[in-house]
Amino acid sequence: MAKQGPSPGLASQLLDWYDVHARVLPWRSRPGELADPYRVWLSEIMLQQTTVQAVKAYFEKFVTLWPTVEALAAAPLDDVLKAWAGLGYYARARNLHACAKEVASRFGGRFPETEEELRSLPGIGAYTAGAIAAIAFGKPHAAVDGNVERVISRVYCIETPLPDSKPEIRARAEALVPLQRSGDFAQAMMDLGATICTPKSPNCLICPWAEHCEGRKSGLSPTLPRKKPKKAVPVRRGTAFWIEREDGAILLRRRPEKGLLGGMMEVPSTAWGEKPDRPETDAPLAADWSALPGLVEHTFTHFHLELEVLKAGSVSTGELLDDGDYRWTAQGDLPGEALPTVMRKIVAHVLGGNAPRPMRKKT
Ligand code: ADE
Repeated sequence: MAKQGPSPGLASQLLDWYDVHARVLPWRSRPGELADPYRVWLSEIMLQQTTVQAVKAYFEKFVTLWPTVEALAAAPLDDVLKAWAGLGYYARARNLHACAKEVASRFGGRFPETEEELRSLPGIGAYTAGAIAAIAFGKPHAAVDGNVERVISRVYCIETPLPDSKPEIRARAEALVPLQRSGDFAQAMMDLGATICTPKSPNCLICPWAEHCEGRKSGLSPTLPRKKPKKAVPVRRGTAFWIEREDGAILLRRRPEKGLLGGMMEVPSTAWGEKPDRPETDAPLAADWSALPGLVEHTFTHFHLELEVLKAGSVSTGELLDDGDYRWTAQGDLPGEALPTVMRKIVAHVLGGNAPRPMRKKT
């Protein structure tokens, strides 16, 4: 018989459960089928950002547009950013493209198999390297994300709050990984966390690990993992300028390549920080301004943003006052622009219609 990892009982119970209950997801190989590292990698990068449900449509769009890593590498960055629009956090899309290029150039279009080499690629951190190594290449690595942290905290009733408990959780998770079917094991942990060991009301009655679960025995499971209280995020404020030309085109600006939402398009605005006293002095051109009622709000990872919107009435000269990277876009072409969610909210605020709902982050 093949050599087993350290906890054959737990691992095989979970794998038996997975054989019956695995979710069918577009990036997963079917039983007996070899995993496609490109699809595994692409899905893992998208899943860093949001939920399985939200990722499905984006995943299908990407593999239809770019069926291989070489095809993605050859695509213009702007096309990739446009296809990513709505998933949020554009640094990930830029890294995705940079990673595809590196896999194509440095590794001849084949993803490397070791965690170390995977981690040397843009956008691939510890979690993603472990997940790809396990799922695409069958290496015995743990892939510890928020769902897995919750499962492990409960099974071992770890009461130390996150993030202090991370090293213990990782050690416990690694000790569970079997030498055989480690990719299925990683995905089974994810499915267990997503479908049974859910944040608020875990369904312990049907859990394959119920008999081993210390959290269940002590009645603490629904309260685990404990978390240290979060610091309140600071609020930044600014003013956005909605400028419409006679033919209805809207003035947009490309953001600098480096930094937040790098290289994306935006509705021009003042800097985001203190509320500006005389915002119109930072406008891209001179105009009669009127303030729209209400605010556009958006929460980024590290701050909350409140923007008022000034709408240009008559534009005095039409002459741009700085050398920003501006362009006029017909209103009908706005949906195809690489506008991040906060900018789409501004468009909806001015033109009406539904602002895109912010993507729900993974737990
Ligand atoms: N979350 C992160 N990676 C996942 C995967 N491969 N399947 C389901 N959920 C996930």
